[in-house]
Amino acid sequence: MKLFDVYPINNIVIDKAKGSYVWDDKGEQYLDLYGGHAVISIGHTHPHYVERLTNQLNKVGFYSNSVKMPLQDELAEKLGKLSGKPDYQLFLISSGAEANENALKLASFHNGRKKIIAFKKSFHGRTSLAVAATDNPAIVAPVNQTSNVIFLPFNDVAALEACFKEQGNEISSVIIEGIQGVGGINVASESFLQAIRRLCDQYGAVYIADSVQCGYGRSGQFFSHDYAGVNADIYTMAKGMGNGFPVAGIIIAPHLQARHGMLGTTFGGNHLACAAALAVVEVIEKENLLQNAAEVGQYLMDELKKIPQLQNVRGRGLMIGFDVPEQFKDLRKNLLWKHKIFTGEAKPNVIRLLPSLALRKKDADQLLEAIKEEIEVSIEA
Ligand SMILES: Cc1ncc(COP(=O)(O)O)c(C=O)c1O
Repeated sequence: MKLFDVYPINNIVIDKAKGSYVWDDKGEQYLDLYGGHAVISIGHTHPHYVERLTNQLNKVGFYSNSVKMPLQDELAEKLGKLSGKPDYQLFLISSGAEANENALKLASFHNGRKKIIAFKKSFHGRTSLAVAATDNPAIVAPVNQTSNVIFLPFNDVAALEACFKEQGNEISSVIIEGIQGVGGINVASESFLQAIRRLCDQYGAVYIADSVQCGYGRSGQFFSHDYAGVNADIYTMAKGMGNGFPVAGIIIAPHLQARHGMLGTTFGGNHLACAAALAVVEVIEKENLLQNAAEVGQYLMDELKKIPQLQNVRGRGLMIGFDVPEQFKDLRKNLLWKHKIFTGEAKPNVIRLLPSLALRKKDADQLLEAIKEEIEVSIEA
């Protein structure tokens, strides 16, 4: 049997990983500033993570949501404290798309409405409703197409107000990434998030903060939406939550009420998933990783801004992007193959940095030196 060929891949086999580094099967070391797509939050193979998962696997790896699971309560308790939302309710699933799918569905159950406001350049996942709210027609199959999603320009308060004025009583939810990831690292302005809060309150709509990529401490705050000083009704989380173990969640404001059978999943919240998520929360707290993400992220961003050839350096914490001018279009490729540094990208010309939240300044310096060298080489050529 062959693999279904949907991914353009790099010809590298990763064999070993530790902290912010990975090694290929030939023993070559790479600095990982991509984190397997913003997933590695506490660093690869963190000893506490390995120990908690190993111990759990030796006790019980899986049982379904038909029995009591104290590990879920422990996770809810610790997550409530770490996120600063102790009165929210936790529902566990296994992927980012599933988190957004459930959030959109829950909002619709709550207010009985059908329409969703999403934004240009958004990415919310590939399941039916999540992909319908994603601004990329190429990945929306005919069966996913719906007239229930309205796409508005990002950070445009006037357009949002006009839309609510016209059809506010039909709007079920507004879904927004605090920092757009796939769309190219676009930070939602504080005034825009505040306007979403105000209009959702005024019209009875649900504010969904897609924090799948920009959440879990990556921005230097637990949720990037926290910078705006307002609470969303539902936060969706995935990537960094399990440091590579497939675990995702939504946290739900107290006024949204559950009923039996409303949402459900087989794998979500199983014993191993909870052990992984607990290990991540514990390490983030013990090692002050939110603060580290804020500090090292600011340092990296300040230094990148000093390189005149890079354009529009932007982001928050350790979610950083910059535009690469045509003259240096091979920069990302050369960082990988010549300097052994993994970075992310966004089309057409953005380099995205999504490293572990435990990244050290000296790792940031390694990237900065490599970029400067590559730019010099390109200018001389
Ligand atoms: C903001 C955002 N939402 C949702 C998703 C979908 O997550 P998953 O691939 O785990 O389904 C992604 C994935 O890149 C994302 O960046």
